[in-house]
Amino acid sequence: MSFLLPLLISLLLGLLLWILRGRTRKPGEPPLVKGWIPFVGKALDFGKDAHKFLEEHKREYGDVFTVRIAGKYMTFIMDPLLYPSIIKQGRQLDFHEFTNKVAPLTFGYPPVLRTAFPGLWEQIKRSFQLLQGDHLAPLTESMMGNLMLVFRQDHLNGESDWRRGSLYEFCCSVMFEATFLTIYGRPATGVRHGGMDRLMNDFHKFDNMFPFLIAQIPIWLLGRTLAVRQKLISYFLPQHMAQWTNTSQFIQRRAELFEQHDELKDVDKAAHHFAILWASVGNTLPATFWAAYFLVSQVEALKVVRQEIVDVLRDSGVDFSNSSDIMLSKEQLDKLVFLESAINESLRLSSASMNIRVAQEDFSLRLDSDRSVGVRKGDIIALYPQSLHLDPEVYDDPQTFRFDRFVQDGRGKTDFSKDGQKLSYFLMPFGSGSSMCPGRYFAINEIKQFVCLLLLYFDLQLEDGQNRPGLDPSRAGLGILLPSSDIRFRYRLRSV
Ligand code: HEM
Ligand SMILES: *[C@@H]1O[C@H](CO)[C@@H](O)[C@H](O)[C@H]1NC(C)=O
Ligand SMILES: *[C@@H]1O[C@H](CO)[C@@H](O)[C@H](O)[C@H]1NC(C)=O
Ligand SMILES: *[C@@H]1O[C@H](CO)[C@@H](O)[C@H](O)[C@H]1NC(C)=O
Repeated sequence: MSFLLPLLISLLLGLLLWILRGRTRKPGEPPLVKGWIPFVGKALDFGKDAHKFLEEHKREYGDVFTVRIAGKYMTFIMDPLLYPSIIKQGRQLDFHEFTNKVAPLTFGYPPVLRTAFPGLWEQIKRSFQLLQGDHLAPLTESMMGNLMLVFRQDHLNGESDWRRGSLYEFCCSVMFEATFLTIYGRPATGVRHGGMDRLMNDFHKFDNMFPFLIAQIPIWLLGRTLAVRQKLISYFLPQHMAQWTNTSQFIQRRAELFEQHDELKDVDKAAHHFAILWASVGNTLPATFWAAYFLVSQVEALKVVRQEIVDVLRDSGVDFSNSSDIMLSKEQLDKLVFLESAINESLRLSSASMNIRVAQEDFSLRLDSDRSVGVRKGDIIALYPQSLHLDPEVYDDPQTFRFDRFVQDGRGKTDFSKDGQKLSYFLMPFGSGSSMCPGRYFAINEIKQFVCLLLLYFDLQLEDGQNRPGLDPSRAGLGILLPSSDIRFRYRLRSV
């Protein structure tokens, strides 16, 4: 799929709206950058390489500027020292307006409006607590069992020779199925669902179109995407889900609360469940790949992290051997500081999510003790943490993977600064404020568990002559970037 289609549509819209001239800057407002085609504005440049685009504009216009992108006025706050004051101002800046409008169109459920579904929005928000706190331990335990199940049946079948594989494909197939089993449960009979490969294939097809859907390109313009989405949604129809066992509390609660809303049709309920499938694997699969790739690509990092895992097991009386199953509890995972640092470092290098808020009224946005800027109702205020993640003043030699960058004195390092001032926010792969990813603790734990199994059971090598994969820019702004190509690797059962 090329980018020509959205380009064409944007151009057409641009021509149609040629007459609608843009606004002009008022005193007190940030510098305004409009671009040469009305409406489309800077959308095309931004879409090509958002990080570069923003860095160039920062050099020219300073830390705060407004860009007209696809008809919307977006004010970017580039200085991470200003992040706290933006994240704090919840009253005039609504975080949810944007996602509440875009997500229903993307996943195919009716907008969760207070008038149509009284109370549903609050109930859904509350259900997110079932991914955290006390609920994390059973989820983590279940994930461990499911990862072990998939590993054992698919990859630990006694062969001691080197095997070849593609790393992204390997990470995806294991993590997709284990996460699915953990969140949605097991089939009525047997331990694994039939047709997981097909489901994952359809998921990837949908996922490839995800950036277009988020850009609100109508789904009927996107080839077979609508049919693929319908197939994915139908997997989660109530009559199917009712047969699954050991479903997570999170999904059980959501299914119960959907039942309380007669206005929701069965396909609507299924579409809500499908949205959670995207949320739970869409970012996790590429994030797992990057963590695995960077560790396997650096012999020293791999050695230190593997030793740390072996030590944590030994501290609880387990001597790892290639013939036994292992179990790593939440407490044990918490002790893996080097592994956590390596995962954080790979998130730093691969995440490009945009944090968006919509101004609810014309007001003066306070930046720090002596600066504020005017914003207008409907304007978007955006943070783009990738610029922070790749800032050489914050992270020395920012393009280099350093597995221990987030460790200091044997603990997680939180001391990062810019212009001599300590940063409150230095790593933001999960968003910020009230809409921050509710699955973040589970996500980190499951990536840890996967990497533990990979490093404990296998000797691992990248095949020669491969460059570090690039970051596919097509979902810049939307989360963890996919690798632009897969990586060939070799693995064999360790002799331990
Ligand atoms: C490395 C993996 C992950 C990353 C980087 C990630 C990142 C994000 C981000 C950036 C957001 C959007 C916040 C915003 O509105 O700006 C989000 C939302 C969300 N994530 Fe994650 N996520 C990950 C894994 C997961 C997992 C495993 C789950 C569930 C099991 C999950 C569940 C959700 C849900 C339900 C939302 C929507 C929250 C809302 O509507 O307020 N995520 N995630
Ligand atoms: C079932 O789920 C619970 C947590 O909800 C978990 O502790 C248990 O290990 C799971 N059982 C299986 C067989 O996956
Ligand atoms: C990794 O990042 C998370 C935030 O995303 C943070 O809570 C955690 O302390 C970090 N751990 C280390 C070892 O840096
Ligand atoms: C497992 O490790 C032992 C050494 O402890 C080794 O002899 C055996 O070959 C390994 N198993 C396989 C299938 O590689």
